Amino acid sequence: MNFKIIGTGSARPACVKTNDDLAEFLDTSDEWIRTRTGIEERHVMQDGESISQLATQAAQAALKNAGTDPKELDFIICSTIRGDYITPSMACIVARNLGVQCMAFDMNAACSGFIYALDCATGYFERGRAQKGLIVSAEAMSKMVDWQDRATCVLFGDAAGAVVLEKGENLLASKLASDGNVEVLNIPHVYGNSPFSSDEHKPSYLFMDGHGVYKFAVNAMATGLAETIAAAGLKQDEVDHVLPHQANMRIIQAAMKKLDIPEDRYRTNIAHYGNTSSACIPVLLDELNQAGMLKRGQILALTAFGGGLTTGAMVIRW
Ligand code: ACO
Repeated sequence: MNFKIIGTGSARPACVKTNDDLAEFLDTSDEWIRTRTGIEERHVMQDGESISQLATQAAQAALKNAGTDPKELDFIICSTIRGDYITPSMACIVARNLGVQCMAFDMNAACSGFIYALDCATGYFERGRAQKGLIVSAEAMSKMVDWQDRATCVLFGDAAGAVVLEKGENLLASKLASDGNVEVLNIPHVYGNSPFSSDEHKPSYLFMDGHGVYKFAVNAMATGLAETIAAAGLKQDEVDHVLPHQANMRIIQAAMKKLDIPEDRYRTNIAHYGNTSSACIPVLLDELNQAGMLKRGQILALTAFGGGLTTGAMVIRW
């Protein structure tokens, strides 16, 4: 017994910034960003918007799509690098906004968070602890990048994606891993004002060694997909939709070359969102679902990598 996805939802801030908009205050260009990454525009939060609000909107859309009353939920898991507070968790705020008191907690597996959360949720169904549950992946990347660093800020955007799960048999295989590494990608924490410490602290901005991540990502995606599809007892060309983490179009294309999945099975929306960390895959999933592209029984392969460094791959039947 594991799970079945019965509803999807997503939300994004109304404000869209194109590459040309960023070139107004950064030494960059639409041509550089588009050709190196595939990104054309991204959504960013503005005054008065919070990531908990966005998460709640995505959750409400997924519940509506599933025809599920929030009171039916046995758990809420949010994946995020950074909610609005260190505590309470984003999941507790979403629970309050939905008017429910079920168990609710956040997990941080960076960009692999959605796949980690799905895998974690499986345990509650297997142990008979849950009939229905909600996963929300919501990320406020615009609050974590240094908007003076052209090498990173152009890559990211804000969004939230959600799914409602019920008991089922649709998870076919899953593989999670980590390769502990602070050097390639990190976001330093915010620090207090202890009178007992005079340590210097870096500002809390995302740091990334782009080349380091690139090399890791191509291998992680290709290997994760190949191993998980094999573990599901399927051939690569039996996959109907590949939903890769949307970090860079060139990473997706390089991973594609290492696999035997026909190119027309890869789904992307990076052009309009950039990298929204763990929200990438559930937002893409919701867009495919709303467009009527997912047929019951089809095979979906998800793959992600991110800070940690974490990796996750999963094969599910729709
Ligand atoms: N506009 C113009 N020029 C730029 C920009 C920019 N926005 N950013 C960097 N440059 C310059 C650099 O300064 C460098 O100039 P130099 O040659 O004079 O030193 C030049 O462009 C080339 O820079 P590279 O870093 O070599 O460019 P590259 O082709 O490697 O692309 C990129 C950089 C897009 C970051 C790529 O390495 C990448 O995609 N890496 C993986 C990133 C990723 O996956 N991040 C997700 C991490 S996990 C998570 O999701 C949190």
